[in-house]
Amino acid sequence: MDNTQAEEFRRPYSAAVPRKRRNIIAIASGKSGLGKTWLAVSLAHALSLLRKKTLLFDADLGLANTAAQIGLTDIEGLESVINAQKSLNQIVYSYDKGRFDIISGGSGLMKLSEMPIGRLQILGEDLSTIAEAYDTVVLDTGAGVKKSMRALAGLAAQILVICTDEPSAQTEAYGFIKIMAAQYPHSRLGIVVNQADSLAEGRRTYETVNKACVEFLRLSPPLMGIIRRDTRVRDAIRSQNTILSRYPTSEAASDVINLAERLSADG
Ligand SMILES: Nc1ncnc2c1ncn2[C@@H]1O[C@H](COP(=O)(O)OP(=O)(O)O)[C@@H](O)[C@H]1O
Ligand SMILES: [Mg+2]
Repeated sequence: MDNTQAEEFRRPYSAAVPRKRRNIIAIASGKSGLGKTWLAVSLAHALSLLRKKTLLFDADLGLANTAAQIGLTDIEGLESVINAQKSLNQIVYSYDKGRFDIISGGSGLMKLSEMPIGRLQILGEDLSTIAEAYDTVVLDTGAGVKKSMRALAGLAAQILVICTDEPSAQTEAYGFIKIMAAQYPHSRLGIVVNQADSLAEGRRTYETVNKACVEFLRLSPPLMGIIRRDTRVRDAIRSQNTILSRYPTSEAASDVINLAERLSADG
């Protein structure tokens, strides 16, 4: 942890976080490029296939790409809410192909990570209110441990920390878990291993992170799912489709469905 992060950690941000929502699942990681956005989109689709009324929320203003992954390039995003031109429920779009709703982030504007505390609080409260209309809300968060990222992830009762077999991803996952567990002890933290070469390899990755958590933090976040590396993930993204529409029988698709089932069973 560098000094800035340490300083942020000392100043709790929980005052800005409205009440926690049982049905909000945050996808988070310490590092970018691990597959958070892809997993958020895929999970939203899988949950809707399990008949859960689902909202996918892109909590990024700097590099919003959740909607773009499924070809929704012309919908209004969070910038109009941040600029106070629209309310959050005016920018809910339905993605008919996946039968879930989506709120797009924004690009190139003020980063959510730099948003004033008052704005962030209103956004959090609005999201919390909108969440009442859904069975599940999947939150795609930006990478890292910035205060505002943590605050939004802290809205979620369930936080899925994404990790891969890269050593740096494992270190960052451990660091993220350490901070989140200290600041939001009432959120359930779980680990999802993505881009695993095999289920056995994925389990080994999980064991490595879990061992550090047990040894240094005295906590053991459960393994919520392993998603295998699959070349069809990239193909599906390229064709602006979800993996479940494009390659419903692929390994990655079946792993995402298993994860959605596990999350549904956990309530
Ligand atoms: N299970 C997987 N198998 C193969 N490639 C994957 C998998 N998950 C993610 N990827 C690749 O990783 C890239 C980055 O994913 P993305 O969701 O944008 O990451 P993040 O949101 O964490 O920055 C994707 O474009 C995709 O090509
Ligand atoms: Mg992303």
